[in-house]
Amino acid sequence: MTTRLEPPAAARSDPPAPVFSAVMSLLLLLLARSRLGPRLLRPLRARRGYLYGEARWDAEYSTGQWRFLRDLDQAAHYRIVELFRRRLKPGGAVLDVGCGEGILYTEAEGMPDARYLGIDPAAAAIAGAKRGAGPNARFQLASAESFATEERFEVIVFNESLYYCREPRATMEKYAAMLAEDGIFIVSMALCGLRDGLTKLAIWHDIAPATEIVAETSLVAPSAAWIVKALRPKRA
Ligand SMILES: C[S@@+](CC[C@H](N)C(=O)[O-])C[C@H]1O[C@@H](n2cnc3c(N)ncnc32)[C@H](O)[C@@H]1O
Repeated sequence: MTTRLEPPAAARSDPPAPVFSAVMSLLLLLLARSRLGPRLLRPLRARRGYLYGEARWDAEYSTGQWRFLRDLDQAAHYRIVELFRRRLKPGGAVLDVGCGEGILYTEAEGMPDARYLGIDPAAAAIAGAKRGAGPNARFQLASAESFATEERFEVIVFNESLYYCREPRATMEKYAAMLAEDGIFIVSMALCGLRDGLTKLAIWHDIAPATEIVAETSLVAPSAAWIVKALRPKRA
């Protein structure tokens, strides 16, 4: 008589290991690096970001739907953004476009060496961010499209926000004018599955001709893969 071994009840109820998700992430990262990437991604023409609308963002922050951004598997990409900032432009003024609830500012321990401005079109997110603001930080209600300033910044961050802008490449061009001389962008985009990943890779390819890569890192976690780049706009 053979006895079939059953996993313990707790193990059975666990979700399956995210092997598929990890393989998908690795394939997308390979595509990002491959010479074939630009040709394969050209038909996607990611000229437009995901358009959610400000009311939806506000409602989703109010009901806590973005609380997962504080989860541990999200922390690494915030840390990479902060590492790039601190190594490449220590002490430089920072503009964080689409800052949400200010998680980057918090994960960076309040960026004590920098003057920091976070903007976001979601009122609920900005209200939350203001509660955690230190004396070096300001948070302002504005979308990437509506924001205007005479200030100049050594670092402009698009941390998981560029692909929500109406026209990602045009947005980068607008913000290039707000960079101090020799200033940099730091851009992070998560690849969450095949469709979303291809959309974001198409955005990376769309902005590539206008920028030079200063530093680049890729991360893979169970929930997604991230590409984080520090970029300098190509000056004419
Ligand atoms: C995935 S969340 C990331 C938030 C934050 N950067 C973070 O990493 O914690 C995307 C953010 O982009 C903001 N957003 C959406 N459309 C935007 C736009 N047109 N301009 C600027 N920010 C936008 C949303 O309100 C939201 O806070």
